[in-house]
Amino acid sequence: MENRMYERLLRCKDAVRKYTSFEPEVALVLGSGLGAFAENIEVEAEVSYSDIPGFPVSTVPGHAGKFIFGYLGEVKIVCMKGRVHFYEGYDVADVVMPARLMGLLGAKILFLTNAAGGLGDGFNAGDLMLITDHVSIFAPNPLVGPNLDELGPRFPDMSEVYRKDLQDIIRTVAKENDIKLQEGVYAQLTGPSFESPAEIRLLKSLGVSAVGMSTVNEAIAANHMGLKVCGVSCISNLAAGLSGEPLSHGEVQEAADKAAPLFTKLVMESIKRF
Ligand code: HPA
Repeated sequence: MENRMYERLLRCKDAVRKYTSFEPEVALVLGSGLGAFAENIEVEAEVSYSDIPGFPVSTVPGHAGKFIFGYLGEVKIVCMKGRVHFYEGYDVADVVMPARLMGLLGAKILFLTNAAGGLGDGFNAGDLMLITDHVSIFAPNPLVGPNLDELGPRFPDMSEVYRKDLQDIIRTVAKENDIKLQEGVYAQLTGPSFESPAEIRLLKSLGVSAVGMSTVNEAIAANHMGLKVCGVSCISNLAAGLSGEPLSHGEVQEAADKAAPLFTKLVMESIKRF
């Protein structure tokens, strides 16, 4: 009973291994706007989530799910094209299965990306933000339940989830390529409703600069199993109440698509230096 999730993960790993023996070094979760990132990869194999028994499959339009294995320059990488979200109704333990599976397949680094609402001082729609830390207390914790001792400890330290050495590389790449890079704390809320202006004022008072509906779940699970984590948000909109305009998923996607070329460049060049 205790290790059912671990056994499920091992079965998922076996299923992927029927398609490919590729062992990635870096895992990348492609958020909104990075859907075309895979064009930069010399692809070795692709595995649809639907071909992995017991694996969660996303219901969100634009999040069709598959793993893409291949080379980014010299770096062996696996990309998650499409992720599942807690707001779709999945158990949070299912939400983090893909991140954990990429770790079990060999990845040592997890690069997380997302689209987020911006509330940091001086933030504008279209900005990119280096995630320096997170607030997880408004989202379910993926480690609740029996601990997966094979992966990590019961009470894992979270004092440097987003590794400083990886942050430094991303900062350097941004500077060298003239890419404006904001920095700040990302908070995950459950969604699917956007926040109210009062909630955004609350988050602002807590020192949060970007808000979204993903990423922190995966970051906690990955840190638990010893992966080095880093993340960048695409600020697709100013958070609720800050622009005077209502928020919509269409606006989020449009802004993320617009930021895609610079976002892609930043992520690609950073991974090549990891
Ligand atoms: N709030 C929550 N999630 C989001 C937002 C937002 O404003 N923009 C993109 N994802």
